[in-house]
Amino acid sequence: MCGIVAYIGKQAAYPIILKGLKRLEYRGYDSSGIALFGENVRTFKKKGRVAELESWNESIISEATVGIGHTRWATHGEPSDVNAHPHTSNSGRITLVHNGIIENYGSLKQELVQKGYTFKSETDTEVLVNFIEDIQINNNSTLEEAMRIALKRVVGAYVIIVLEEGFPDRLIAARKGSPLVIGVGDGEHFLASDASPIIEYTKKVIYVNDYELAIISPDEIILKNLGNEPITPYIQQLDMELAQIEKGGFDHFMLKEIFDQPGSLTDCLRGRLDMENLTLTLAGVEEHMSVFSQAKRIIIVACGTSWHAGLVAEYMIETLCRIPVEVEYASEFRYRNPVVGEGDVLIAISQSGETADTLVAIEKAKEAGAFIFGVVNAVGSSIARLSHSGAYTHAGPEIGVASTKAFTAQLTVLAMMAIKIGREKKTVTEAEYNRYLAELALIPEKVKAVLETHESIKEVAKHYADARDFLFLGRGYNFPVALEGALKLKEISYIHAEGYPAAEMKHGPIALVDENLPVLFIATKDAYYEKIVSNIQEIKARKGMVIAVISEGDTQIRDMADHVMVVPAVDELLAPLISVIPTQILSYYIGVMRGLDVDKPRNLAKSVTVE
Ligand code: F6R
Repeated sequence: MCGIVAYIGKQAAYPIILKGLKRLEYRGYDSSGIALFGENVRTFKKKGRVAELESWNESIISEATVGIGHTRWATHGEPSDVNAHPHTSNSGRITLVHNGIIENYGSLKQELVQKGYTFKSETDTEVLVNFIEDIQINNNSTLEEAMRIALKRVVGAYVIIVLEEGFPDRLIAARKGSPLVIGVGDGEHFLASDASPIIEYTKKVIYVNDYELAIISPDEIILKNLGNEPITPYIQQLDMELAQIEKGGFDHFMLKEIFDQPGSLTDCLRGRLDMENLTLTLAGVEEHMSVFSQAKRIIIVACGTSWHAGLVAEYMIETLCRIPVEVEYASEFRYRNPVVGEGDVLIAISQSGETADTLVAIEKAKEAGAFIFGVVNAVGSSIARLSHSGAYTHAGPEIGVASTKAFTAQLTVLAMMAIKIGREKKTVTEAEYNRYLAELALIPEKVKAVLETHESIKEVAKHYADARDFLFLGRGYNFPVALEGALKLKEISYIHAEGYPAAEMKHGPIALVDENLPVLFIATKDAYYEKIVSNIQEIKARKGMVIAVISEGDTQIRDMADHVMVVPAVDELLAPLISVIPTQILSYYIGVMRGLDVDKPRNLAKSVTVE
């Protein structure tokens, strides 16, 4: 949530920052701004998309070699020019960009107002910049010292990057709870919320940790903790290519990422599934196998789409491993008083690895003695680093705000974990193990086969693009797919959509059914097939419109439904990996037909780094 970029070096900073902000726009896109250091600091900020910043036409944009930029997802104060970052202190001496939330900004603001400070914006960030300035003036200290003192008093999450008048060769950054990467160049440095604005210039990066301060000049990076002790920077090599973060000929990132899935799932299985030797290697699980096989229970925490992956994992793990599983919204887990401790395994699922609620849920369970396993996509992210062990999903960068390929990669990792642990516990027989491995190996091809039907799914979309409401129903492994299908449709098309277990329909939602309500059944051939058939009949009897995701060769539901989307047959354990694909494609086309920006749905941001 909110993206920040900064540059210091020998090139013109403005084009680098502008391009970087466009890459980070998925993190927030209601307003943006850039501050550049020429003879002094000049700021340009605008409500709306990052492209608005292209109208800045002062000479400083080609001259300045130092600058900071921000793309905003509003928390305090509506999207407007004045609430956009960067924010500058009352004296004009300090200018900064901020990602995160300063929770005690209200009391800090009161203090500052009493001292005569005035505020133009409604943001917590303008309070922070003036708070730092006030400390600097009162203590007659350097900016660095003032930041250290200020940040010890601040409650909340932040990454800030600060410019100070009179110091054109220096940026100071600090982090707690929000991500910050520094790209190390030759006589130049790049700072950003993630590596995508940096990858084009250098692959050498430093991930800044919580409570660290970075003092950055063109030739040097000094890292310190808030106690002013030096820290040796750990430079890593990025394993990412520029092509992975570009659209590659597709109209939208979302469509590209849907079509990436045969490849991303192959990447997820690569080096893990070996069909020649019939082995499954998951180092993060194997190294701690006794923790898993002796676990009293597994708790899964996640948010949104990742939470839906967790629900599928509950079915997988309980069936194959006979370990009790609880799936919790991270936001609920962190604030209740959960019974958690030694002997519990907590699996945190996250695409970004930066979701604030999931991070805090992990910290809480870790303090209580639970073993933390991260299923994360973003390499080097906070959740990956906070976990005792984990498995990357290797889906590659996901830029579209709606999660698609990250979800199927999460399911793949979770299925591999369940199969592996089940085999160890002997709750999975050798024959079952071999069958599951064979099924897993076929998944990328089966996903590809569904993608090849995208034109017929587009035809289905034409019939429902004007719907006002939608119901998604499924049973068993396909129940979480119904939830996921509904989430995807509502976020991309703004159509009100709800997902339910099909049998729950009779306990309330059936009251909504009439000739105007499309009901989408995830109805692939599995143990619940006959029950789903009955549920479809109940909808048809009330004149509801039925769309169904069905297995190849199924004529019974094909004859009953108004429209079908056909997928290859697959073992029910892995069915969600296949049955979710038509719902992704359908949502995409409905969103596009409604004229919406599917990559950047209103009010949303990709990486939810505030609670
Ligand atoms: C929906 C979506 C969100 C995320 C959620 C968790 O399409 O993308 O619901 O799944 O914000 O994000 P991560 O997985 O990054 O923790």
